[in-house]
Amino acid sequence: MLRPDDIHQGAGFRRVTMEAVNPTPDSKKLAHPAPFAPRIFADTATLSDIRPLKEGGIINGVTTNPSLMKRAGAKSWNGALKIMQEIVDYMAPAPVSLELTELQPEKMVEQAKRLAGMGTNVVVKVPTGGYQAIDKALDPFTGLKVMRELWKHDIKVNATLIFNSTQAFWAANAGATYVSPFLGRLADYLYKHDQPEREPGNSLHFLEDHKAPEGGRDITANTPYVANDGLRKDSGVRLINEIVVVFNNYRITTEVLAASFRNASQMAECLLAGADILTVPAPILMGVADHPLTFEGMKAFVEDAKVFEK
Ligand code: G3P
Repeated sequence: MLRPDDIHQGAGFRRVTMEAVNPTPDSKKLAHPAPFAPRIFADTATLSDIRPLKEGGIINGVTTNPSLMKRAGAKSWNGALKIMQEIVDYMAPAPVSLELTELQPEKMVEQAKRLAGMGTNVVVKVPTGGYQAIDKALDPFTGLKVMRELWKHDIKVNATLIFNSTQAFWAANAGATYVSPFLGRLADYLYKHDQPEREPGNSLHFLEDHKAPEGGRDITANTPYVANDGLRKDSGVRLINEIVVVFNNYRITTEVLAASFRNASQMAECLLAGADILTVPAPILMGVADHPLTFEGMKAFVEDAKVFEK
């Protein structure tokens, strides 16, 4: 887990400057205890996954991307649009992120307007960078330029594929409403390429070597840099806190939408790190009310309660 010392506490102040997620209506006597809770989104394009989560009050938004669309069965852009429209309608008025697939700025803006026209709850997902990985002739600032343009058109943007806090800063500067740091992919990457000399992202400066004690076995629990059964797997979560601190420093109201989750522990860590929104795959969300000891405890309570039936 992150150590308390690692977590910048500016996050708490930041939340209360934002719109309450659970406001208490004037008619209510009992105030809602968690007005400034982070929002939780489902990271999926599969409506059958979304339904039980929405009905259970677990989610208040959805994020999609082209890979999730393909996984949901879309075989063409028209097929993807159909799936998108169903999700947008089902979730309204809660936000649904739909990702651009065009790569030329004018076409991206045109596509963004088409997507935004699907519902007032649509947020357009724009890849922040990476354009030159597709074509060297593309402008490296394509994503940022499109974000700025969409802000001018009052279209909400979710800046995606973020792996360091400077990308997050520039996306916010361009007018993005949300930034999506992919903590799971970063943690996977660092786990696979765990060499001190490598510096793939600026979140690495948080890391220190964790060495097994002389003659002892490597301890993978309760060490500062271990989140989930492996060395340095919490690094993605540190990035979340880093972005929260940067935004807090400059009163940036762009929301930090932590994405690319691999397990429930990363959710807990993102809450510690001050994420504004967590977008989580459905299988992880389906387990949020459970724990092996909760199962055991429930069985015992139900068994003991049988005495009252007599
Ligand atoms: O929202 C972004 C997310 O879908 C990426 O997740 O699991 O492909 O790294 P993943």
